[in-house]
Amino acid sequence: MDLQKAFELVPQAAEQLPRGAFLTAGGDVWNPMTIGWAQFGVVWSKPVITVMVRKSRFTYSLMEKTDVFTLSVPRTKECVKELAFCGSRSGRDVDKEKMSGLSRAKAISGGADAVAECGSVFECRILQKQLLDLNTLDPELRAKFYGSNQALPDGDPHVLYVGEILSAYQL
Ligand SMILES: Cc1cc2nc3c(=O)[nH]c(=O)nc-3n(C[C@H](O)[C@H](O)[C@H](O)COP(=O)(O)O)c2cc1C
Repeated sequence: MDLQKAFELVPQAAEQLPRGAFLTAGGDVWNPMTIGWAQFGVVWSKPVITVMVRKSRFTYSLMEKTDVFTLSVPRTKECVKELAFCGSRSGRDVDKEKMSGLSRAKAISGGADAVAECGSVFECRILQKQLLDLNTLDPELRAKFYGSNQALPDGDPHVLYVGEILSAYQL
């Protein structure tokens, strides 16, 4: 995809991200997960988004079964309740397609289905993934984000998924 076109919607997305956006993985189970961290950039001459998913998330199991994901970004300050729901409840316990108040918008470029209530959508194809090596992380950040209080005894490190942006569009 053309770099300029891929990044047109990034300023609003980057501004909204700390309040949350929705990550959906490809496959039959549609389970929006709130994320607050992502990277937008250029790697291997392609426009990419890198998302970070901890191994304890139900979404991690879905990401491991697919080669696509989609980032759906709410309009500024919208979807507050839905972000809280999808950021605290697991798809292991609840059916988020039925319970989150969000609805599915069919993907148009082979990515995962998006969230219809959002303002912008980035469909992505996974190019590379890697488990975060905590031994190479700044010790202060390691202590803060990957201590013994996490869901898994190893600090529950994130897996980084680098996704090529297949399409970026407004709903
Ligand atoms: C604002 C916000 C941002 C979050 N960002 C991330 C993130 O980037 N990566 C992650 O693994 N979990 C993140 N979480 C936590 C997950 O959304 C949460 O654990 C969720 O219930 C997991 O859902 P799942 O088990 O259905 O995948 C975030 C939560 C909130 C509220």
